[in-house]
This record gives sequence, C-alpha cells and structure tokens, in this order.
Amino acid sequence: MSQRETWTSRLGFILAAVGSAVGLGNIWRFPYMAGENGGAAFLVVYLIAAVVIGLPAMLVEFVVGRQTKKNIVDAFRNLGGPVAGIIGVLGVFTGFWILSYYSVVGGWVIQYIIGSLSGAYFGGSEAYFGQIAAGNGAILFHGLFMLLTVGIVALGVEKGIEVGTKVMVPSIAILMLGLAAWAFTLDGAAAGYDYFLSPDFSVIANNYQTIIPDAVGQALFSLSLGMGAMITYASYLDGDDNLLSDGFSIVVLNTFIGVLAGFVVFPLLFAQNVEPGKAGASAIFVSLAQAFAKLPAGRIIGFVFFLVLLIAALSSAISLLEVVVSYFVDNFDVSRPVLTVGVGVLVFLLGIPSALNTDTLTLFDNVASLILLPLGVVLTVIFVGWVYGRSAVSELRRGLSSTTNIGPVWLWHVRVIVFVAVVGTLVLSLMEFF
Ligand code: PFF
Repeated sequence: MSQRETWTSRLGFILAAVGSAVGLGNIWRFPYMAGENGGAAFLVVYLIAAVVIGLPAMLVEFVVGRQTKKNIVDAFRNLGGPVAGIIGVLGVFTGFWILSYYSVVGGWVIQYIIGSLSGAYFGGSEAYFGQIAAGNGAILFHGLFMLLTVGIVALGVEKGIEVGTKVMVPSIAILMLGLAAWAFTLDGAAAGYDYFLSPDFSVIANNYQTIIPDAVGQALFSLSLGMGAMITYASYLDGDDNLLSDGFSIVVLNTFIGVLAGFVVFPLLFAQNVEPGKAGASAIFVSLAQAFAKLPAGRIIGFVFFLVLLIAALSSAISLLEVVVSYFVDNFDVSRPVLTVGVGVLVFLLGIPSALNTDTLTLFDNVASLILLPLGVVLTVIFVGWVYGRSAVSELRRGLSSTTNIGPVWLWHVRVIVFVAVVGTLVLSLMEFF
C-alpha cells in the first residue's frame, strides 16, 4: 500500500481544521442561538464553553490521531482493542449520516447563489424556499454539491484538502469581513447589533439549558467534535506540533467567523425591517433572502453571501467525507479516487429522503446533533480519559515546551469537568429528542 499522506505544513493542518469547524453551524445556527439566548450574555457563555470544554475535547481527538496515524476505526482499535474500535465505527457511521443531509443543505445554497443572480427569490422568498427545498431540483443540487466534495477529497489530503482549504478559509474570512463592513453602513444597522449583542444575563440565569446542552452542544458541533474529523485530520500530522496552541488558534478563528456572521446577518435584517425569525432552515434561507430582495444591491450582496456559505459548507463537508474515505483507503487496496466516488454515491443515495422532504432532513439533523455527536464525544472522552489516559498525556507533551506541565491537569480536567459537561449534554439532548 502506498505511503500515508501528511500535511505539508502546520498552517495546512490548522486551516483544514478551521475549514471543518467553520460551516453552516457558524453562519446559520450560531447567530440565531446568540440572538435568542441573551445576546452578548450567550456569547460569553459560549466562549467559556468553547475554551473550557471544546478545546480540551479537541485535544482528546488530536492525541488519538497523531499518535496512531490511522483512520478512526483502526486508531481506536490500536489503542484499546476491538471494543474500543466500536467508537470508530460509530464515527464513520456518523460522518456518513451527517454528510447525507448536510449536502442537501449545500445544494440549497447553490440554488440560492443562482437565485441571487437571476433574482428568482426576489418575488417571494418563502415561496422560493418551498419550491427549491424538496423535490427533483433538491436532489439534483445535492448531487452537484456531493460532486464538488468528492472532487476535492479524491485529490487527496495534500493536493485536495490542504490546497482547497488554504484557498477556501481565507476567502471565507475576507468575504465575511467585507460583508460585515458593508452591513455596518446600512441605516438601521444599530438595531441589529443591539439584538445580537445586548447582554441579558437573566435568560441564562433563568434557564440552565442555555448552558447545557445549548452552548456546550453548539461548541461541540461547531468544532466538529464527536465523529473523528479532528482525529482523522490529526492523523496526517507529521512531527511535533504544539497541539495546544494549534487547538487554541482553531477555536479562536472558528468563534471569530461565527461572531462575524452575526455582524452580517442582524444589521441586514434589522435595516430592512425583516423579523429575525426562529433558528432553523428558514432563518437564513427565508428571512435573509427577503432582506436581499429589498436591497438595491441585493443581487450582488446575496450572491456573495451565499457564496461564502457554500465555501464554508464545502470545507466542512470534505472533512465529513474524509473520515469515511480514510477508513477505506487505509484498509483496501483500491485507489483513493475510486473509493471516494464509491462512498460519495452511497452518501448521495442516503441523502435522497432528506432532499424529498424537509421534515426528514430535520429528523436526520436531530438524530445527529442530539444523539450521534454527543454520544461520540462522551465515548471518546471516557476512552481517552480512563483507558488511554497516561499515554495520552505523553502524546500531548510532544511539542509543548518542556517547562509546561499542563498534561496531567488536562487529563484530570477531561476526566471530571469535560466528562460531566458532555454527559450532561448527552442526557439533556436525548430528553429533548424523545
Ligand atoms: N462544524 C461544522 C459546522 O459548524 O457547520 C459541522 C460539522 C462538520 C460537524 C464536520 C462535524 C464534523 F465532523
């Protein structure tokens, strides 16, 4: 079998991981959660959750990947035997599952890019959404989105994912900054900032669910934890990166893009007198489209916005696909392009029910974000905290300066605080689901 690929640079790894983290979750879910849950107060809680729970949980995945240099099934098997391997199998299944509907939403985004240019949704954004979200068109564009995703992953880790994310992630940041600066100039933007940022700590004080599961769950989803994406990406590391500082950069950049998205979405909505609405599909696809429709430069602004969303969705989708593909590449003597196309076709088929019915898509999303991902995080945290334990500490130490002795603190933090937070998230998410 050919030599396993590695990232060509540390920056390549960081940008790929940021690309995975920054996705529909940042632009579509995060601003709304903040807006509805106490604005700046939620932002503070989210930041704490991302650093105190998300970052250590990300390091948990990094050490497993870097030490084993294997796909997630073999990584867990190597470290903990066949029973631990089940965690890897669950991760591969989850990647497969999430990508199936994530790609359908990606297809909607492509249709909105086209609709921005043609002005197709300017007549009635709700009607447009109803028209494109389910049916043959949705299947077709889901297929197109999968084709793009497969195209990048088939090229491999270096030439596909690394080169791709080195272009995509800076583009997302620059275009978003441009949009936010432009939104700042709109009359009435202030009301948008006010909605997004006015701190209302009473929302959090009166409702513990804004912390667990909401803020913690959003941090985990947004950082792509719980299904081995970060394990897989770290498995392509070669050498002794400082994982702590890499992880920190990833968390900061991911949060930055989420906040920036809020600085685009809310000024726009409020300046055009559009109700922000509830989180969910309609959030950007209906209300934002309505705002674009009212703007003089709506076509071009809408085009740029949905383009950013497409790039963000694509750079996340490739990490979902890579989790699955790397398992097959490591275990079968078949070329990567052939395996990638094969997996892509299966994902496409699994996505068809979601492309035919938005309720099915919501169900798929709930199963993933309320059950599969929190379960994956809990199992990984238990395994690394208690079984892999001390070797995880030595793996983390590689690359840290020899004077830092953060390892044991990190391990106990994972065993107690992260454990309690993620188990709490899983239990409350399960209650919400059922
Ligand atoms: N982090 C992505 C987002 O916020 O949209 C979603 C995601 C991607 C979750 C990859 C999990 C994953 F492995």
